[in-house]
Order: sequence, then C-alpha cells, then structure tokens
Amino acid sequence: MLASSLQQPVAAAPAAGGPPALRFSHVSKTYRAGQFKALDDVSFDIQPGEFFGLLGPNGAGKTSLISILAGLSRASGGQVSVLGHDVVDDYANARKKLGIVPQELVFDPFFSVRETLRIQSGYFGVRHNDDWIDELLLNLGLADKAHNNMRQLSGGMKRRVLVAQALVHRPPVIVLDEPTAGVDVELRQTLWQFIARLNREGHTVLLTTHYLEEAEALCHRIAMLKQGKIVALNRTSELLAGTASTMLQFKTDSALPLALAERARITGRIVQLTAHDAAEVEQILATLRQAAVPIEDLEIGRADLEDVFIEIMQGGRA
Ligand SMILES: Nc1ncnc2c1ncn2[C@@H]1O[C@H](COP(=O)(O)OP(=O)(O)OP(=O)(O)O)[C@@H](O)[C@H]1O
Ligand SMILES: [Mg+2]
Repeated sequence: MLASSLQQPVAAAPAAGGPPALRFSHVSKTYRAGQFKALDDVSFDIQPGEFFGLLGPNGAGKTSLISILAGLSRASGGQVSVLGHDVVDDYANARKKLGIVPQELVFDPFFSVRETLRIQSGYFGVRHNDDWIDELLLNLGLADKAHNNMRQLSGGMKRRVLVAQALVHRPPVIVLDEPTAGVDVELRQTLWQFIARLNREGHTVLLTTHYLEEAEALCHRIAMLKQGKIVALNRTSELLAGTASTMLQFKTDSALPLALAERARITGRIVQLTAHDAAEVEQILATLRQAAVPIEDLEIGRADLEDVFIEIMQGGRA
C-alpha cells in the first residue's frame, strides 16, 4: 500500500533532460543593511533523484539558503528554482513541489497531531488525505500520538511531526534542515529508512546535518559551505578518496606539541589525527615521543567524512 501510494510523485518527476530538481544560481544574501554577507555567490544544481548533503559549521548559511528556497526570505541576488519553477516569480508552483522540514520547531499548540497534518494538507489543496497521514504517522512512530495536542509532545516527537507535515502533499523534492537534531537513535534509524525509501522511489532529497556519519551513509553528493561560500562540492566517494586516508586515535592527559595540536580533533581525552601514509603516521608518533606525551589506547583506522570536513574547513584543501 505504501509503495503504491508513493508511485505518483515518481511518475511526476521530470524525464532525463528536464530541469534540475533544485537550481541555485549566484545566490547571495546580506543581513544588517548589507553589512553582513551570509551567502556569497552560491551556485549548484541538484538533479532529480539525488540524495544531496549540504554541510557546514554553525552560521555557514545553510538555513539562509533553505529559507530562500522556501520563500520565507528573499535573496539579495541570484535565482533559485524548483523543477524549473522560480521561487519568486512562480512561487505557488515551486512551493507545491517542495516538502520542507525547518530547523526551528514552530507549531500551533492547540491542535492535535492529526489536525496539524490535516490543516497542512488543506494548505496544499490535498483532500481526503487520511490514508497517507496514517502511513506517515506509522512510519514516523507517531501512530499512538495522533490525538495528542502538539504541546503535549516531547521535542523529538515534535520534530517527527515536522517531518510528517513536510510530506503530507507527497512533494517530489524533500528538504530537511537538521531533521535529526534532538532525535533519539531509534527514530533516527526509522526516519532514515523512510527517507531513503522515498529517495529510492524517486524523490529528491536535500539534507543538512551536523551528524556527518549520516551524511556519509546517505548522500550521493555533498556540498560544503563555509562563511556563505561553497568550498567543496563532489560525490561523497570522491571527497573521501581525496583526503588523508589514515586516522590515528589515542588518549592522553597531556597537552600536544603545537604542530600536532593545530591539526588534531580533540574530544576530552581523545585525540584524532589524520595521516596520508605510513611515514606520516611514524612522524606523528615520533613527534609525540620527542615531546614526551604519554599516550594510551592507540588505534589506527580509515579517515571518514568528519576528517574530510575538518580538513576542508581548516582551509587545507580547495
Ligand atoms: N535574520 C537574520 N538577521 C541577521 N543575521 C542573520 C539572520 N539570519 C541569519 N543570520 C546570520 O547569517 C549567518 C548564517 O546563518 P544560518 O542560520 O543560515 O546558518 P546555518 O548554516 O544554518 O547554521 P546552523 O548550523 O547553526 O543552523 C549567521 O552568521 C547568522 O547569524
Ligand atoms: Mg541552520
């Protein structure tokens, strides 16, 4: 039943050679009367059927870009379109193609979960939507909360409703702005299974997240934003292949020599350093020995997307 009810948007997706699912063309955004540039000449396309990750540190401009896409804010320059519909000149058509899960939790506290989803369906002109609403509730672990008022839900449950709300009109393009912030492990897995299935069935997905292992597992391509500029954009496999391949991890209570401290990822006692080859691993260990830094639980493994991300954000690679 679920699979058959999802065929529709797939069939509605454009054939090869049609417009991109999302097009960002020279987008800029300034705040504070032009004093601050949150987005600076951002251009990229996302093709129909792609699972695309938009990554960047806090304040990089991810939500600003999504707000422009959603029509919640105006770009200071450039254009954005959804399946060929300009988000300003052709707003109604662009918005219909989009399901957006916003980063901020905003709800009317007086409605129940089901009412909230019915109202959202009505907003998109979708009638008799209860079968689909039931499927959404089931897939997002909300079936037993349908009659609860929004204000009775925990933060994680509210976020699940936000996801359901974004999907009520079966949009071909799904945009998720940190959908798993504050969501427990179990729901993260159910949510990703559900979104991955929608993607397999033809929906385009744009995701922002700070959980880089999620992005690594799910996204075909990834763009990285830093201070409003795209600093990397590639297939996930290429990004991983282009980085230092080895990761060195150990624990220590001592301060690292400056040369290592500058490039280390430090979480409490745990220190992680990347290396390109065995010689560099030896060099790192020699530097630690010379500085008489005692280390425990040394592990050597493969570098992951988080290492790539740090390397790129530190400006180590274009
Ligand atoms: N309405 C606003 N007025 C002024 N500055 C703003 C406004 N909205 C965002 N900014 C600034 O623009 C920059 C980008 O913010 P944005 O919310 O897009 O970042 P983000 O990448 O989504 O970060 P996060 O990962 O924390 O969600 C930040 O420096 C932010 O302070
Ligand atoms: Mg944000």
